Amino acid sequence: MTPDGGAQTLADRFRDHFRHRDHLYGVLLAEMADDWEAGGVTRELFEGWEESETRQFVQLRLLAGLFRIVLRGEAPQLVPFYPVLGGDADLDEAWAAVRPVLAAHVDELRESLREAPQTNEPARAVALLVGLSEAVRRTGLRRVRLLEVGASAGLGLHVDRYRFLGDGWSAGPEGSPLVVDGCAAAGFVPEPFEVIERRGCDLAPVDVTTDDGAAHLRSFVWPWMLERHRRLDGAIDVAREHPATVDRAPAGRWLAHRLAEPAPDGVLTVVWHSVTRVYWPVEETEAVGSVIEAARSRMPVAHVSLETPWAAWESASARDVPHWPRIELDGDLLGTCDHHGPPVHLER
Ligand SMILES: C[S@@+](CC[C@H](N)C(=O)[O-])C[C@H]1O[C@@H](n2cnc3c(N)ncnc32)[C@H](O)[C@@H]1O
Repeated sequence: MTPDGGAQTLADRFRDHFRHRDHLYGVLLAEMADDWEAGGVTRELFEGWEESETRQFVQLRLLAGLFRIVLRGEAPQLVPFYPVLGGDADLDEAWAAVRPVLAAHVDELRESLREAPQTNEPARAVALLVGLSEAVRRTGLRRVRLLEVGASAGLGLHVDRYRFLGDGWSAGPEGSPLVVDGCAAAGFVPEPFEVIERRGCDLAPVDVTTDDGAAHLRSFVWPWMLERHRRLDGAIDVAREHPATVDRAPAGRWLAHRLAEPAPDGVLTVVWHSVTRVYWPVEETEAVGSVIEAARSRMPVAHVSLETPWAAWESASARDVPHWPRIELDGDLLGTCDHHGPPVHLER
């Protein structure tokens, strides 16, 4: 709703998303809002999506589609606006360069609106490390079967292969292609554990062993976030060395199948998810919760999540208030962290 109680148009949503012009997407969404109202190419691109749900973030889908065109080398004139590609051009000139590219790729960009955001962030695995360590302490079990729902490319499944550096602690193999630093969490004690099996699911899994798959993931990482691109590259190297299976399936149904399989004795089954529940329908959230509860009578299960309560996204006004993602183990709040992982603040 707008402040005067009217329905939000797509232009309102585009303007609301960042509300500044400090980076490329802030500029492009402000310009696209004006262009949509003026009946320009933006109106054509989003035709039929006017009533889409806010949580579908269609504007981010479009910007990712555009980034893929740039990554493929089909819009070299836009490279100067993408810092990750070395660009540092004046953003006030971006829209004049972008608009013709949008017009030249209407079909592909309309297709990209069907692709739910895949903002993969391997550094969110620090939340899994925190939850998993606490689960190991509570159960005394160190052999782990790791199941990730909404896994996208399954980068979180490699938590034991990343190096983490926090305040007064470290974990993971030295020499890992991915070093997640700045984890903070003073006083945190990482527990040793062994992942004996790992598997994930996603509605739209991404295979990062292919160049298209890797470009797909890169396209959802905002192009001025150089550190995030560095981390993603490191995680892609790990995943290419140790491919993990990510099945194409919705979270609840897939988890029901996995948890119906007997777990080996002495093994802790860890169900993990990060920044996916916000995209789930209510029934999915209920299904995941109930299959986990049902499995507890058959095997030791830990449910670790890094999610933002949906209520925080629901109203534009709530978005002005910090609403950090919560690290939870079986519903207990262990701490909070940034949307992309570090730094972690532990609950005391
Ligand atoms: C923002 S990405 C997060 C990926 C990864 N968990 C991370 O934190 O980097 C959200 C993922 O949730 C997936 N997803 C959305 N709804 C889903 C559902 N009902 N079942 C399984 N996966 C779902 C999307 O396809 C997408 O890959």
